[in-house]
Amino acid sequence: MITLNVSASLRQEALKRQAEWQTKASLLPTRQGEGNDFLGWINLPEQTGADLLTKVKQTAERLRKLSQTVVVVGIGGSYLGARAVITAMRGELTNKKPDIIYAGHQLSQDYMNDLINRLDGEDYSVIVISKSGTTIEPAVAFRILKQHCEQKYGKAASKDRIVCITDAHKGALKTLADQEGYETFVIPDDVGGRYSVLTPVGLLPIAVAGLDIDALLAGAKMMHKSVENLDDNNLSYVYALLRNYFIEQGKSVEVMTSFDARFYYLIEWWKQLFGESEGKNGKGLLPVGLLYTTDLHSMGQYMQEGQRLFFETFISLKRPDTVCKIPFSDNNLDGLNFMAGMELCEVNRQAELGTMLAHQQGGVPTLRIEVDAMDENHLGQLIYFFEYACGLSAYILGVNPFNQPGVESYKKNMFALIKKPGYEDKYEEIQSKIKDL
Ligand code: PA5
Repeated sequence: MITLNVSASLRQEALKRQAEWQTKASLLPTRQGEGNDFLGWINLPEQTGADLLTKVKQTAERLRKLSQTVVVVGIGGSYLGARAVITAMRGELTNKKPDIIYAGHQLSQDYMNDLINRLDGEDYSVIVISKSGTTIEPAVAFRILKQHCEQKYGKAASKDRIVCITDAHKGALKTLADQEGYETFVIPDDVGGRYSVLTPVGLLPIAVAGLDIDALLAGAKMMHKSVENLDDNNLSYVYALLRNYFIEQGKSVEVMTSFDARFYYLIEWWKQLFGESEGKNGKGLLPVGLLYTTDLHSMGQYMQEGQRLFFETFISLKRPDTVCKIPFSDNNLDGLNFMAGMELCEVNRQAELGTMLAHQQGGVPTLRIEVDAMDENHLGQLIYFFEYACGLSAYILGVNPFNQPGVESYKKNMFALIKKPGYEDKYEEIQSKIKDL
């Protein structure tokens, strides 16, 4: 189960806005809002067919057998969802095989060389994911990895090790996959990148990590059922109302934080989901991610006493999977015997409650999303909860949740600067502008 804990008075204030905001929010369930040609994600939990799931599992099994490491190539919505689920389930220090590592999510040369050096000594496969099939970061990374793979295993054997996930009809990756004869999965036309984790974009890497994609979809399905009606039992709706209420109260930032590092990439995924969906037309809460207690030692001062421009959402796990007790020490030199026998999670929980209280007393409104267990079902619930909340929240805010026109600006400049054919005219103009950068 997932619960959304918030003080009764805040909840009431947000719910009071229902009369005003319900019509806007209902643009999502009635499919009448802008961007409604990108609502394919809504029914993915129910409509993902058995044939597709079987194919995903078979491919995952093949890659698992062939590989010590599987490289997932993609950026933004084409990789963050899978990374969120895999990190949440495996933890940071895992040595589970195959190891899942990432490429094409940035352009660092040294990262790429480290990756290639590592892959020289390991058996690996590559899953390349790009809906448009033209995004420069994954395209360049894949060109390098494809060449490496073919040099290491030969062209024919590489075909077993490379899987493409892309548009059904268009894009350079689709053309390349068809010509090379790579196994391909389709990202549906009506599902945008950041809402695609429950398509093969997320399902294949997650299955390769040995995780239960049926349970992930079952959790999402459960959440879908519970958010169908716009009432105060609908967690996504209440969260969307609260977010817009905080904007009305002058907040401009939502800080999402967790005391469990396994949520790190879920928070990264949340940042993208809300940042790219809502940050337009000069609107939108800036989504910021922190990890406690780590960041209490870097940002704790600001959170307690800095500008009151944010509210804080804690995402907590009710109980970890394992037990770790603080041992008794005969000489008690560190003075910690008062904690002997206590589980580390108890200390962590008290740190969380103490922090929430301190921040509230420091004038920061707080919400807490509590998750009963870290398993695929709960992660499916969480993913769907946030996706649905994001659609509702953006419509209440008055923006199209499903486009990202602003992302093109940096791409155009970069293409001109690297002299992509078609951008020649812009090159001179940009050269003069970047002199002082
Ligand atoms: O949410 C989005 O649409 C983006 O973050 C994309 O997922 C990201 O830009 C990658 O795009 P593509 O899958 O086309 O390579």
